[in-house]
Amino acid sequence: MAVSNERANGTPADAGAQRYLRIEGVRKEFDGFVAVDDVSLDIRKGEIFALLGGSGSGKSTLLRCLAGFERPTKGKIVLDGEVMNELPPYERPINMMFQSYALFPHMTVEQNIAFGLKQDGLAKDAIRKRVGEMLEMVQLGKLAKRKPHQLSGGQQQRVALARSLAKGPKLLLLDEPMGALDKKLRSRMQLELVNIIETSGVTCVMVTHDQEEAMTMATRIALMDQGWIQQVGTPDEIYEQPANRFAAEFIGSVNLVDATIDEDEPDYVTLKTAAFAAPIRIGHGITGFTGQAVSFAVRPEKLGIGKAEPAQDHNKAQGTIEDIAYFGSHSVYHVRLPGGIKLLVNFANDKRWASEGMTWGDQVWLWWDDNDGVVLTS
Ligand SMILES: Nc1ncnc2c1ncn2[C@@H]1O[C@H](COP(=O)(O)OP(=O)(O)OP(=O)(O)O)[C@@H](O)[C@H]1O
Ligand SMILES: [Mg+2]
Repeated sequence: MAVSNERANGTPADAGAQRYLRIEGVRKEFDGFVAVDDVSLDIRKGEIFALLGGSGSGKSTLLRCLAGFERPTKGKIVLDGEVMNELPPYERPINMMFQSYALFPHMTVEQNIAFGLKQDGLAKDAIRKRVGEMLEMVQLGKLAKRKPHQLSGGQQQRVALARSLAKGPKLLLLDEPMGALDKKLRSRMQLELVNIIETSGVTCVMVTHDQEEAMTMATRIALMDQGWIQQVGTPDEIYEQPANRFAAEFIGSVNLVDATIDEDEPDYVTLKTAAFAAPIRIGHGITGFTGQAVSFAVRPEKLGIGKAEPAQDHNKAQGTIEDIAYFGSHSVYHVRLPGGIKLLVNFANDKRWASEGMTWGDQVWLWWDDNDGVVLTS
């Protein structure tokens, strides 16, 4: 990936490609209500960038500002060096694919794809060639003469995508692209969409409230809450190094425990907590101070569970199994600690009957490694 290569070999960034789409301090108010609050983001050329957040967090509003359907109250949008603010939607080198696809029902697949090209007054041969390329890219050549109602949901989506990409936009915007599809089709189309977007080379900003969708499709994610960006990062950065409690809790499931910083050394930290039988040790330094109140966050799959007490003198807790949820590939154990808090533990059922011997009411030990948890200061 561009960023890590750059860090690894120390070559200076190609500023143009690194900041292909610049969102600078964009704010959008509706009658005094702030829907998007001073958002700044740099998006790289060719990226699939996801805006992820709960309902009402401002994702669609920000996307609509990029498309030109909303006018930012403040801030600047720059695409490939050109300021977009004053351009109406149809003059921006941007295409937005709507959740409903908005295909023309009376036109065939190829007529739908050709529509924008015709409007631009392209020559017939050039249109035919481009439509052919698009049909091949989305693998719908055989269905070129069909009308939208003769297509499955996934096929309709591919037509909409081909139509959006036909004019070769610099930026493709997708608002909840899987919204109209059922669950099974969704996961298949997520990967297909990524393939098509990557083949076309277009830069893409997508909106979703579905964390799995963002994690599967995006190169980077901006996590939004109440108009604010809470964190920007690759899917694994957001999952493994959440910036704050909101980010930790939004993505996946997490155990959060109140603690205070006891030792704050350059290469490790220890935390005191009333919740566990032993101190917490984190294998890297943080920016904090002794006595500071923090949260310790650890994901359920990072915890070990068993009946015997682990030998280590830190990073362990004892409790009672209160619930077991069986998911086939893994089980989630709900373990209640003496202080009252409950920890979730994912146990991989990597052998048949792997969990035999641990059941409701059993006393168990939980443990984890120095690098498995993170300290959150906000
Ligand atoms: N035209 C408008 N007039 C007034 N308020 C608006 C308008 N459009 C959006 N809002 C408000 O701005 C906030 C953000 O809306 P937005 O549609 O961007 O959310 P979202 O993150 O896309 O949510 P969802 O996941 O539900 O689609 C909401 O509180 C919404 O009610
Ligand atoms: Mg929305």
